[in-house]
Amino acid sequence: MHLKNDLILRTIRGERTERTPVWLMRQAGRILPEYRKVRNSLSGFKELVETPELAAEVTIQPVDILGVDAAIIFSDILVIPEAMGLPYEMIEKKGPRFPETVSSEADLKRLRIAEAEDINYTIEAIKLTKKELAGRVPLIGFAGAPWTIFAYMVEGSGSKTFSKARAMLYTNPQLSHTLLQKITDSTINYLKGQITAGADLIQIFDSWAGILPPVHYEEFSLRYIRQICDAISEVPKTVFAKDAYFARKSLGQINCDTIGLDWCMDIEESRVLAGPEKTLQGNLDPCVLYGTEKNIQDAVRSMLEQFGPTRHIANLGHGVYPDTDPGKVKFFVDSVKQQSAEMH
Ligand code: CP3
Repeated sequence: MHLKNDLILRTIRGERTERTPVWLMRQAGRILPEYRKVRNSLSGFKELVETPELAAEVTIQPVDILGVDAAIIFSDILVIPEAMGLPYEMIEKKGPRFPETVSSEADLKRLRIAEAEDINYTIEAIKLTKKELAGRVPLIGFAGAPWTIFAYMVEGSGSKTFSKARAMLYTNPQLSHTLLQKITDSTINYLKGQITAGADLIQIFDSWAGILPPVHYEEFSLRYIRQICDAISEVPKTVFAKDAYFARKSLGQINCDTIGLDWCMDIEESRVLAGPEKTLQGNLDPCVLYGTEKNIQDAVRSMLEQFGPTRHIANLGHGVYPDTDPGKVKFFVDSVKQQSAEMH
């Protein structure tokens, strides 16, 4: 299918474009009343994830309502552990929980390497979304980085410290590596399935990158992200390693196209560390969207000036916060479009 808006893909190739492309992490769900309406008619989050027609509908909502330059498929990073044999629950207002976790060799033995078919609902949602988008914008597929998935599988829920998961890296590095390898193999199968189904680019979310000491980040996270990037050559790849300011140089050397920056990462310094071949994505503080329109406009201008007119995909430095006014989000998107067009 020919893409009518391929700004993101041209930007990733390093081309000079008519303006900077823009989308938001966690744009599907979280903020739109149109999403809440669909969501509230169901038993819960998982029903929405597992019903392709509805997942496609909420994936497309931000394209229609916010005018973003890409859609991201509505699913979750936790579908991988579930497909490996460790089911998750999504508790209203609290977040994910795993009734069973991994703490021993025996737990690990019960887990399998997932195939894309095990997550058929998301694969079907991608096919449907591609059909319904009819080439309006590219569709982003995604998965969690193996370390971030490991953190949830060992910890059993979200955590400020993930101390159980981090402790395992010291107390049982061998078990840790075996689990990380199983997650990695599953993730490669899943991402390849997403690409076959129509994903135009993919993003790897390493949300808990920043809690590891740099040597552990290299050994227990980057090593596996590298494997994923080396295994996928069909579409462009983005790696977003939240808080991993210490890893920007190493990320610059892996086989990916785009590196996501959070709002604490200095833009010029990141350009130097990542090298001239990488496109950068980010990195406005999500809290800017609680400010006035003038605040947003000024912050967008400053961001655009620092990134410059090429190799930049505008985004926030992390997912949009749930209580953000959708009107302000739309203002942000329009502001990037307008100001970058004047600057290009
Ligand atoms: O970007 C998108 O909008 C597409 C869909 C998407 C969701 N989760 C839907 C979701 C994506 C890309 C994710 C990724 C994800 N999930 C990450 C990595 C990105 C990040 O924010 O760091 C992580 C760590 C998770 C795990 C997860 N899922 C948590 C911690 C929670 C609870 C808190 C929250 O809202 O983020 C979820 C639930 C979840 N995933 C919701 C949505 C829309 C909210 C649940 C609901 O609608 O009831």
